[in-house]
Amino acid sequence: MALDLAQRHELRLLAASRPALPVLLTLGRFARPIRRMPGLGWLVADPVTARRILNDPEHFTLLGEGGVGHLWAQVLGDWVYDAFDGAGHHTLRTKARELFTEDNAAALVARVAGPRLDQCTAALAAGETVDIADLGRVVVGRIVADLLGLHVAAPDDDAAYRDIFETGERLAALALGSTASTHLPEATVAAARTIVAQMTGGVAAAWRDAPADRLLGRCRELGLGLRETEGLAVLLMVAGTETAASAMARTVALLHDTASQQRLRAEPHRIADAVREGLRVTTPAPVIGRSVSADVQVAGRRLRAGERVLMLTYTANNAPGGFDLDREYLPDNRQLWFGAGRHLCLGAPVARAELTALLRALLATGRPWRIVERRYGRRVLIPTYARLRIALS
Ligand code: HEM
Repeated sequence: MALDLAQRHELRLLAASRPALPVLLTLGRFARPIRRMPGLGWLVADPVTARRILNDPEHFTLLGEGGVGHLWAQVLGDWVYDAFDGAGHHTLRTKARELFTEDNAAALVARVAGPRLDQCTAALAAGETVDIADLGRVVVGRIVADLLGLHVAAPDDDAAYRDIFETGERLAALALGSTASTHLPEATVAAARTIVAQMTGGVAAAWRDAPADRLLGRCRELGLGLRETEGLAVLLMVAGTETAASAMARTVALLHDTASQQRLRAEPHRIADAVREGLRVTTPAPVIGRSVSADVQVAGRRLRAGERVLMLTYTANNAPGGFDLDREYLPDNRQLWFGAGRHLCLGAPVARAELTALLRALLATGRPWRIVERRYGRRVLIPTYARLRIALS
C-alpha cells in the first residue's frame, strides 16, 4: 500500500521515538483479533476486542507486570494498588467524575492558555515563524502549573512552562523500557521519587487553601484526601502533558500534509471533526498494557493469569484509513485513543479543549500555514514532533 505524505511523516515520527515501535504497530495488523507474540505477550489490534478487555476488570488489571499501575506502585507506594485499580479507584473516579466537564475544561484552557494562543495568532499574522511543538509544550505546561498550583516565578515567561513540561517528560522517560518489562531498577525508582517530590511540593498547601473553583480546592471539597490528591496530581502531570502536546503538533502537521486545512478554514464549524480525526490518527498513547489477573477466554483464545496483553490502539485506530475530515464516527473505535472502561482518560475534555483552542488560534489568522521546519522527537515515550515551525503562506 502506497503511503501518502501525512502517513510517511507519521511513520517516521513513530520510528524516531522508538525504532521498534513501527514494527510492533505494523505487526499488529496481523494480530486481529488477538495473537500471541513470544517475548511480548498477547497483541490485540482489534478495537472491539481491545474494548472488551479494557471493560473487564475481573480478568485484567493494570497493576500486574506489564501495566502502568505496576510502574507507579514502585514509585509512589503500595497504596497505588488500591487507588489505581482496587476499590479505592472506584471511589476516586466517582469523586473525580465532575473534575473535568466539557464546559469547565474549555473555560480552564481559555483562562490559562487563551492569551498565549492569541500571541501566536498575532505573531503568525505579523509574518513570524512559530514552533507549534514548543507552543504545545508551553500550553500544557501552563495548564499543569495551574492545575497543580505550582509556583511560577515569572508567569509570562515560556521558559518556566518548558521546565514543567520537561519535568513530566523526565518522569515518563523513566518508564521508557517498560514495553518489555515494568520492573524498574532501584536507581530509576529513586530518581522518579525525587521528581515526584519536586512536582507535588505545592500540592499540600493548595489542597488545604485553594478555592473550590481550582482543581486542588475542588479535590478537597469532593472529599479526596491529600495522598489521593497528590497521586492524582502526579497522574495528571504524566498522563496529560506529552500526550496532549503530541496531539497538538501532529494534528497541525496532518491538517497541512493532507491539505485539509483549506476545508477547515472554509468550514470552521468542522473543528470538532478535525480534533477527533487528529486524536484518532495520532493516538498519542499508541499501546495500552494490561496483565491477566485470572484465566479468561478472549476471541476464542485462552489467556492465563500472569500473562501480558498489549493493546495496539494506534494500529486499531488507523486501520480505517488516514486523516479525513469527512470520516464518519466509527462506532467500533469510538474514542479508543482515550482508552475505555474504568480507566478511560480523565482529562479527555481538557485534551479536546487544548486542541480546539490551538486550531481556533491558527484559523483566526485567516490564512493557510506552511511548514518551515520539522524535526521528530528522538527516544521519547510518546511519539511527537521535537520541532514543527510554521509560517503563513
Ligand atoms: C491527547 C491527549 C491525551 C491522550 C491521548 C490520553 C490518553 C489516555 C489513555 C489511553 C488513558 C488510559 C490508560 C490505560 O487505560 O491504561 C488515559 C488515562 C488518563 N489520562 Fe489521559 N490522555 C490525554 C490527555 C490527558 C490530559 C490532558 C489529562 C489531564 C489533564 C489526562 C489525565 C488522565 C488520567 C488522570 C488518566 C488515568 C485515569 C484512570 O486510571 O482512571 N489525560 N489517558
